[in-house]
Amino acid sequence: MKSKLPNPRPLARERSDPDEDTRPLPWFLIMFLGAMAMWGAFYIYTTPSGEESVWGDQRTVASLRPPLPAAGGVVSKIDGKQLFSANCAACHQASGLGLPGVFPPFVGSEWILGSEKTLASILIHGMSGSLTVKGSNYNGAMPAFGETLSDAELAGVMSYIRSEWGNAAPAVTPEAVKAQRDATQERKEPYKGEAELKSIS
Ligand code: HEC
Repeated sequence: MKSKLPNPRPLARERSDPDEDTRPLPWFLIMFLGAMAMWGAFYIYTTPSGEESVWGDQRTVASLRPPLPAAGGVVSKIDGKQLFSANCAACHQASGLGLPGVFPPFVGSEWILGSEKTLASILIHGMSGSLTVKGSNYNGAMPAFGETLSDAELAGVMSYIRSEWGNAAPAVTPEAVKAQRDATQERKEPYKGEAELKSIS
């Protein structure tokens, strides 16, 4: 039986062989990509960085950097306000007003403006049980900071809360905190109620 396919010879003669070729990017795409790259470089170059950010939370790189330790590994500058924000404000509130019935206020508190020994003891060992602040009763638990904060840091935060929001009590020295830490080193648990606090001298 004879093949029905056309004779390949004339076909090969009529059509050229297929071949491979590189196809260049269209010119408009190259222009577009070039324009994007130039715009990106321009944007990065003209965008201010490291300055006060107008939008957002206003923090700069400098304000986020931790304080540099001075020679000997001691933090050179203790910032009582920063320590307060990081350790106390969650409960006692940034305003220092506390939460009525739950967290006692710092503003005008007799425990803060009074004896620095009592204040240092509360911070070093913590406290729980009944406590009267400015005529209101509280019965919560105040965590101890003796383990987490150094004498100098405790002195810094104490000095800060004694002088902020209109409070006007003298600053506390790290030596005074250390003396109170040494005097109460036997104590291993938080003070229970204000009766125990009043016995501190
Ligand atoms: C987990 C919440 C919490 C945190 C954090 C906290 N406190 Fe307190 N604080 C309390 C509570 C609750 C009381 C009341 C305790 C009671 O009723 O016996 C209190 C009481 C006090 C008192 C005595 C009452 C007064 O208001 O004068 C002082 C002083 C005090 N805290 C200082 C601080 C300082 C300084 C820090 C940060 C270093 C801090 N507290 C962090 C919950 C907290």
